[in-house]
Amino acid sequence: MIERMKHIVPVSTSSRAYEVHVGRGILDEAGRLIRDAAGGNIAAVISDSNVAPLYANRVQVSLKDAGYRTTLLTFPAGERHKRLSTLETLLEGLAEAELSRDDVVVALGGGVTGDMAGLAAALYLRGIQVAQIPTSLLAMVDSSVGGKTAVDLQAGKNLAGAFLQPCVVVADVECLHTLNHDLFTDSCGEVIKHGVLADERLFEELCSRPMNSPDRDDAEIARIVARNVEIKRDVVNADERERGLRQTLNLGHTLGHAIESAHGYAWGHGTSVAVGLCCVARAAESLGWSQLGTARSIESICAAHGLPTFTDLDPCTIMDYAVHDKKRHDQTVNLIVPIRIGKVEIRKVTLDELAKIVRIGCGKAAS
Ligand code: GLY
Repeated sequence: MIERMKHIVPVSTSSRAYEVHVGRGILDEAGRLIRDAAGGNIAAVISDSNVAPLYANRVQVSLKDAGYRTTLLTFPAGERHKRLSTLETLLEGLAEAELSRDDVVVALGGGVTGDMAGLAAALYLRGIQVAQIPTSLLAMVDSSVGGKTAVDLQAGKNLAGAFLQPCVVVADVECLHTLNHDLFTDSCGEVIKHGVLADERLFEELCSRPMNSPDRDDAEIARIVARNVEIKRDVVNADERERGLRQTLNLGHTLGHAIESAHGYAWGHGTSVAVGLCCVARAAESLGWSQLGTARSIESICAAHGLPTFTDLDPCTIMDYAVHDKKRHDQTVNLIVPIRIGKVEIRKVTLDELAKIVRIGCGKAAS
């Protein structure tokens, strides 16, 4: 089969419709795509200290060719800089560059940059447009689509934010060539999540040839990224504000976030989600909620990607972190449970039930 090099996924949420362009070498089209989607005179590119030296110049040339005046605002790379203090510096930068309500912020980078630049755009002048140019796999398949933006607080990750859908997303899979293999593998946790959530065929393809196989070419990667975007698109089109269906995107996250925090963020987000997914799948199967073999299949695909399936953390420690999850509703949690590959359900569980799930799914006895 000859693979297409370019995919356009239309998104249509209640607040805005836009396109996600996925392809190889499309960074140079960013200016034209942003001009068509957003208009305006000034494009402020926001990027971090790792990504800006690699791609900011190319994106700025493309924006200038499309008739924009550009400015580049950079901040130090890393989750620990996803803070209100960095956001304030970025907002001052937008004001200094004299962006008006007609102008556009361009988020160039991974998940942290997309979050920071998106929130800066949501706040500046009470909201201007943002275009997302994700350069990491995690940002391409997840965070650049759907309009969630946030910074972290002392009390936890992503606790202060806003919804702002982008005007366009431009995902050039060539940018993944500069992503280190461990980060690429970490992001595969979210790709596996999408397969478990909604696409048995994708899941099976990735079981037999993992996303991070060295022989996957750009066209295949672009197709898989676009399929992931479609899966997420179908969810956010139906439920932009996470009142219902969008909660299913938290598959693996209730325990994954707890595991990520309990490891002091030494494990990446996708890795933690993969383990969280394995834990909830083992517990669900042992409680008779899911089809037999589901947990084994999920463990196998994670292992095939080189992702862990267990954590050595004590279940009580995981539970301590899980009860502080921002998505807890008083004494209950909406847990996303894989019923079989390609199908999940939302189960409201009490904290006592969650403690049992953690014991069964994460405890050593489970092995
Ligand atoms: N990353 C989950 C969501 O966007 O809802």
